[in-house]
Amino acid sequence: MSKPVSNRDPSIRVVLQPKDTNSQGSIFGGIILSYIDLAGAVECGKTTKQKVVTVAIKEVQFKAPVFMGEIVSFYTSTKKIGTTSISVHVEVEVLRKHETIEVTEADLTFVCVDEKGKPTPVVLS
Ligand SMILES: CC(C)(COP(=O)(O)OP(=O)(O)OC[C@H]1O[C@@H](n2cnc3c(N)ncnc32)[C@H](O)[C@@H]1OP(=O)(O)O)[C@@H](O)C(=O)NCCC(=O)NCCS
Repeated sequence: MSKPVSNRDPSIRVVLQPKDTNSQGSIFGGIILSYIDLAGAVECGKTTKQKVVTVAIKEVQFKAPVFMGEIVSFYTSTKKIGTTSISVHVEVEVLRKHETIEVTEADLTFVCVDEKGKPTPVVLS
């Protein structure tokens, strides 16, 4: 799906490399997932400076392929701050021929953990 070029600032923006491609020449879904995870963690950094780990990534559907050399933007927003968890939404878009293509979106939950890796209450930064 395409829409007008966004003027939002993404949490991360990446250019995908030959090593990220599958045998069809498009980008592996798992590569996009790893950047979704990273962008979500960056979003959590706006809420807290604590260590966070990913506990859940809800169903992700890829709506359009991404190709090597394209600039991919990961836009994030915080949806909920729980007792120990932070839920964020990530939207993935690629700029192609002056159009913004919606690649996918995801809902993730991160948990603040202590030095033993156990959940600990969110401390707002
Ligand atoms: C994340 C982890 C510390 C949570 O430990 P836990 O004892 O299961 O945690 P709890 O059941 O107390 O839940 C902690 C919070 O996570 C939320 N949560 C747990 N499972 C969830 C799920 N599947 N979806 C959404 N939220 C979830 C709980 O609702 C709770 O939120 P709240 O405190 O804001 O109410 C533990 O599961 C873990 O270490 N997982 C591996 C994390 C990791 O390494 N991720 C990287 C991928 S390898």
